[in-house]
Amino acid sequence: MTEKKISNWSSPIAFLIASIGSAIGLGNLWKFPYITLENGGGAFVLVYLLAVLIIGMPILIAELVIGKMGKAGLYQSVKQITSKKFWLVAGLIGTSSCVIVLSYYSVVAGWPLKYFIMSLTGEMANITSANSGKIFGDFVSNPMEIISYHTVIMALTTIFIWGEIKGIERATKVLIPLLGIFIAVIIYNGVTIYGHEKTTQFLFSFDLSTLTPASILEACGHAFFTLSVGFGALVVYSAHLPDNVSLTKYGIIIAIADTFIAICACFMIFPIILGSSIDITESISVLFTSITVQLNTNSLGSYIGGVFYLLIAFAALTSTISLLEVVVAFVNETLKIERKKATLLSAFVIWVLGIFSALSLGGSEFFTKIDFFGKLDWYVSNVALPVCGILISLLAGWIIDKKMITVLHNTNQKLVKTIIFALKYVSPLLVLVVFLYNLKLF
Ligand code: TRP
Repeated sequence: MTEKKISNWSSPIAFLIASIGSAIGLGNLWKFPYITLENGGGAFVLVYLLAVLIIGMPILIAELVIGKMGKAGLYQSVKQITSKKFWLVAGLIGTSSCVIVLSYYSVVAGWPLKYFIMSLTGEMANITSANSGKIFGDFVSNPMEIISYHTVIMALTTIFIWGEIKGIERATKVLIPLLGIFIAVIIYNGVTIYGHEKTTQFLFSFDLSTLTPASILEACGHAFFTLSVGFGALVVYSAHLPDNVSLTKYGIIIAIADTFIAICACFMIFPIILGSSIDITESISVLFTSITVQLNTNSLGSYIGGVFYLLIAFAALTSTISLLEVVVAFVNETLKIERKKATLLSAFVIWVLGIFSALSLGGSEFFTKIDFFGKLDWYVSNVALPVCGILISLLAGWIIDKKMITVLHNTNQKLVKTIIFALKYVSPLLVLVVFLYNLKLF
């Protein structure tokens, strides 16, 4: 018997919180605000919301069903539910993409940890709007420092995958709500100082002329990324759920919680950027420059900031855990390598790959010049996630559609039919059109 610690949930709620923990991460708190900024706001947000609803949510539910039916990681689950070898491609792209995502995700997850340490040493209190960009830039271009933080994140992730799942469950239950409270405090602080009007207008006024095929594809790709769908992360998590759980209901809750936090992240960051003269030359850094400046306007700001960054690091950690679990499940189930060895091997390969991303933010001239980090992120969001999403969608819509109706027996059948319709036609077609358009194939 293979050991499957991560999927032995003590209760369905533990599964739900861990899945929300997987979904909520740097994608919401770091990436969404900066790509929204780059893509001009409102219209981009609208496309993103539609993509979550029409494309992301049906595929998310499909992943939960595939895990429930196959009772294993994506590759082995697909093997269980269809004899056609073609569909295994989804398992292969999904798993290899988790290796790629985790390699650079772990680098970024180290940044809030660095800022947490800066709050402890008192350095954070000295950050002003004049020097915040330089402090951030000096940090990410210091090879030793950035690699060290990447190493800490990979080590912690390995320990969680290695160790007792109940520990993650308990911690997630406390820390995810705590993160929510801190986000609320920071939004309140920023909005009372700078007002919310400009942010609300930026996010919710729809100037369709700001949309380009590239920004539409980015919104669709990000909808996958932020929900953790496309690569089988939720397949692994749903693999060992009891039978009477409503997967549709849980899928909808995960999507709503995740989207809500993404919008909150914008309200946390944009009031200060739009309402003050802070210089954001690199939008990638918004989470680390604007917030610290805002917090420093309060006397206790750098301490609140410390806890805040610690919680962001934890939110990132609940995502890195889910990414590593996909890889470990594959190495363990398919390559038949014992789980602990599989964990070490996977983590080591990912750590090495991550070093190249860590060096591409100024640390090494070569990797910075080829923008290794940016290229990987582009490939994941714009190629791997759409391709895998289309495959999972078609597999669920065309191959296991009848069985889906049985698995989702406790869901309103009209809703199930709508989900299957979306999986059969709507999601694959929409993703395909935008994907091909962006590759300039028509
Ligand atoms: N959803 C996470 C975020 O928004 C990232 C993530 C975790 C992920 N697991 C995943 C992305 C699996 C794709 C696939 O930060």
